[in-house]
Amino acid sequence: MGMKGRQIVERAGLDVDKLLNLLNKAYCDEWLAYYQYWVGAKIAEGVLAGPIAAEMMEHAKEELEHAGKLAGRISQLDGKPILNPADWYKECNCEYLIPSDPQAAVLLRQNIASERCAIEVYENLLEFIDGKDPVTEDIIIDILADEVEHEDDLEQLAKAVPGEVSDGKECSKKR
Ligand SMILES: [Fe+2]
Ligand SMILES: [Fe+2]
Repeated sequence: MGMKGRQIVERAGLDVDKLLNLLNKAYCDEWLAYYQYWVGAKIAEGVLAGPIAAEMMEHAKEELEHAGKLAGRISQLDGKPILNPADWYKECNCEYLIPSDPQAAVLLRQNIASERCAIEVYENLLEFIDGKDPVTEDIIIDILADEVEHEDDLEQLAKAVPGEVSDGKECSKKR
């Protein structure tokens, strides 16, 4: 725990407990995003399944890194990352989209929806931080940049799948 590190955030006028709650919720999203990509990559079938699975595995790795960065910051602020995986599902912002249809094009669509949800989550976090916690802000900006890149990567791949256009209508926002 970084006592002084937490104090400077409090002194800047930020509700650190609320911040910890938001960081923990994003942490749950990251684990679920990791698994949605990872298991999707394992079962992908159909047109362009190879390259789509490779990209999904790459993204999975980065979602796990995001979870690691969030856990690190939560600890610095004297919080605890959520310890029970059963709580990931309850606390997440974005719905876990079960990859029950293994068609790579369907998996792509689901993951595009999840990336869009993630982008909103991090935009909201930045809004909450409001420049009052530059350390967390830097971490969130880095993660947000990755999520924007992920969405774009998947959109590019979706264009290459014949007859499949991402309509962006699938909502993955839990609440
Ligand atoms: Fe992520
Ligand atoms: Fe992502």
